[in-house]
Amino acid sequence: MKLNKTPYKLLFALLLSGACLFSFRAQDATGIAIQNPRCELLVNPEGIDALQPRLSWEITSNVRGTDQIAYQVLVSSSAEKLSDNTGNVWDSGVVKSDQSIQVSYKGKPLQSGTEYFWKVRIWTNKGESAWSEVQHWSVGLLKPADWQAKWIGYDHAFAWDSVSKFSRLSARYFRKEFSSAKAIKKAMVYVSGLGYYELYINGSRIGDQVLAPAPTDYTQSVKYNTYDVTAQLKQGSNAIGTILGNGRFFTMRQNYKPAKIKTFGYPKMLLQMDIEYADGSHSIVASDDSWKLTGDGPIRSNNEYDGEEYDANKELTGWTNTGYNASAWIKPEVVDVPGGYMSAQMNEPVRVVETIKPKAITKIANGNYVIDMGQNMAGWINMHVKGDKAQRVELRFAETTKSDGDLYVANLRDARSTDVYTLKGGSEEQWHPRFAYHGFRYVEIVGYPGVPKIEDFEGQVVNDDLQNVGSFETSNPLINQIYKNAYWGIRANYKGMPLDCPQRNERMPWLADHATGSYSESFVYGNDSFYAKWLDDIEQSQKPEGQLCDVAPAYWNYYSEDFTWPATYLVVADMLYDQYGDKEPIVKHYASMKKWMNYMRDKYLKDNILTKDKYGDWCVPPESPELIHSKDTLRGTDGHLIATAYYYRMLTLMKRFAGLAGKSRDIAEYDAMASKIKATFNQTFFNAKTKRYSNNSVTSNLLPLYFGMVPVEDRKAVFKNITDKILIENKGHISTGVIGTQFLMRMLTDNGRADIAYRIASNTDYPSWGYMVKNGATTFWELWNGNTAAPQMNSQNHVMLLGDLLVWFYENLAGIKTESAQGFHKLVMKPEPVAGLTFVNASYKSVSGMVKSNWKKEGSSFSWEISVPANTKALIYVPATSAAGVSESGKSLTGNPDVHFVKMEAGRAVYRVNSGDYSFKSHI
Ligand code: BGC
Repeated sequence: MKLNKTPYKLLFALLLSGACLFSFRAQDATGIAIQNPRCELLVNPEGIDALQPRLSWEITSNVRGTDQIAYQVLVSSSAEKLSDNTGNVWDSGVVKSDQSIQVSYKGKPLQSGTEYFWKVRIWTNKGESAWSEVQHWSVGLLKPADWQAKWIGYDHAFAWDSVSKFSRLSARYFRKEFSSAKAIKKAMVYVSGLGYYELYINGSRIGDQVLAPAPTDYTQSVKYNTYDVTAQLKQGSNAIGTILGNGRFFTMRQNYKPAKIKTFGYPKMLLQMDIEYADGSHSIVASDDSWKLTGDGPIRSNNEYDGEEYDANKELTGWTNTGYNASAWIKPEVVDVPGGYMSAQMNEPVRVVETIKPKAITKIANGNYVIDMGQNMAGWINMHVKGDKAQRVELRFAETTKSDGDLYVANLRDARSTDVYTLKGGSEEQWHPRFAYHGFRYVEIVGYPGVPKIEDFEGQVVNDDLQNVGSFETSNPLINQIYKNAYWGIRANYKGMPLDCPQRNERMPWLADHATGSYSESFVYGNDSFYAKWLDDIEQSQKPEGQLCDVAPAYWNYYSEDFTWPATYLVVADMLYDQYGDKEPIVKHYASMKKWMNYMRDKYLKDNILTKDKYGDWCVPPESPELIHSKDTLRGTDGHLIATAYYYRMLTLMKRFAGLAGKSRDIAEYDAMASKIKATFNQTFFNAKTKRYSNNSVTSNLLPLYFGMVPVEDRKAVFKNITDKILIENKGHISTGVIGTQFLMRMLTDNGRADIAYRIASNTDYPSWGYMVKNGATTFWELWNGNTAAPQMNSQNHVMLLGDLLVWFYENLAGIKTESAQGFHKLVMKPEPVAGLTFVNASYKSVSGMVKSNWKKEGSSFSWEISVPANTKALIYVPATSAAGVSESGKSLTGNPDVHFVKMEAGRAVYRVNSGDYSFKSHI
């Protein structure tokens, strides 16, 4: 096994304290309050000067039109100092500004291993707020020299392990006893265990994260986590223990595909504990070869694809407590560093986020029982069982069942997806795996002693613990179910990185699967730090010449040099800018984005046509039920057309990014290139007579139309070709794959045909999202024909066909949208009261505060309740036959100081409104 010996480039450590995410309400008499003050810490591996906390807060107010005019931030080295209103680390002074998100810290340089406390107050045009509640952040280990710990492990298999096609490697247990002679004031642990670790001190589990740390390409970077363990340590003897699972580090499970799989070596760990005593002195406990190790514990085998095997008879009772007899344990090896640089994990940890009860349990023909969770989910089963010593219970996981009720596992490919528990016997036992999760709805229980009951099992849902920021409901139950399926599908595919699927032998972070999808997802989950981390993963996949991998972290050696998949790099950065108002990812990644664009240009741009495309419009609905990919050339779209249109689109993004990254000299170059590409694109693919692009597939026409490449005078005709194709040829159905589906719903709506978009969204026959629902899907399928296609590529839980559907739900059906580049500081609220819906109720907790839009149609009357967060403004479009008939809170709008009429436009009265809650009524 090859081990990477790259030394650390630099070690950085920052802890984003959980307390930063705490939310509170401290209202003064004016009703103006600061909510949810939070800090994020940007870590730049290039130098500690770049260590940059950014502070954000939300403002609530009972008064309409409340705008922040100034703020003051205090940062202090202790909470006490802050209570005297002393900012001994930073006092921003009164800063005249309406900025309430991503305010950069400008205080004294931050020190390793130090905690900082902060608070903020604001002045508004309607009064001032009280000081916010005190928040804090901690800085971990900033410099390589701060780490005294050594990476330890055991670079061999144990006798009972096997390293073969289906490698089985037991979990490794490490322990260390130490004593702290003096009274302890504070103790912090910095730990990384690869692939995954669990940490214990004096018998207690530390933290509630699972599958930690977040996965990366370990040769490039390693994440570590920080815990305050003051409460678990005691004066006198202490014991510390860790368990290491294989995760994505030891990936010999798939070593029969050597060209594809990157393995990093045997599991290893790094741990450092800094103890501060009451007398002000410090000591350090660090991983080294004075620790003890065994692989002969209860977890006999673990990997994400095959599952976990646990033998309770092998439990190491008391091993994380002092006084345990570890004489049979061996000395660990000081092993090579994994490579890359270390940084604290800034994205939210993975946790058990929800527990669900099975809906049913059924005995099947082979005598076993199958439980139905009622929901396709990713996580594991927590089982209660009572029986005899050495009885073996197997839990086999699957997404669907066959007609006889037996599991359908063909679409898992060779993933065994089976957990095995061997009982110790006696009283009731309870168990769930630690280092394996499954994508499943059904579980077959084999060998359960007695008759298993529903109460013996619960499903634990496992994913990145992101805040649920959206709610969406309409009068159409089908649309609501599609939304619910998306909600479950998205979370199932978040595992410290966005995956294609959680169940089969793949589970890879394929780039295009979450391109515009990341934007759809952002309305459901607060995914900013999750995707900021993914951009780092993508950058780390870059080869020196500029190529990006189609999966990132680059666990597969898959540099196909396709254009559309890696373009996700730019698409996601753009999403973070629009949805979260955060330009930092663009600034940070600009150079590597440019490098990739240049690489593709130099190698594949021939006479202004980009000649490289690997995937086409991946997964269009095939013509016959068993097919994975359509064979009908009229359904697909010319790869050169796709690649060239995308290249044009990415040039327009690069032009935007160049301005933001302070590279304005690049703008003219991108512009000139874009004009050339557009001209050649139209000469090559556009038929001026028929107004069709290429083979007239919806995707062929919609890419140039949505990307602004169609000559102005031809736009209507091209759009008509699209609507004719959908309405006449496809009888109102979708015909796009992963590429076209990213823009379809917005393209139809922007061109005035939200009704067609709604028809597509509310279909229940093939192909449609509703067809998935009607056929029992509780998540999204990989294929439009996911109930009939061949099993090789037929996941029931892929999110790539989600495209821009949820963007359309929120921005268009509900009318909740940020103005471009505003991070919801300015909103555009333009709902589409499509025929077929009588109401939509939606809310979105944006970075600038809570936005709400609830509309209802009754006959010709339209009522609309909205909330525009304090310190923001909105341009709103009230559906109305005339402005005269529009009222707000029962009153005419004349003289309303917060609602200013702009114009009538295509059946809507347009107003500028100040922040606040409003209730509009109109005639439609
Ligand atoms: C994955 C996809 C991915 C595609 C590209 C599939 O096997 O599951 O979602 O984008 O391959 O080749």
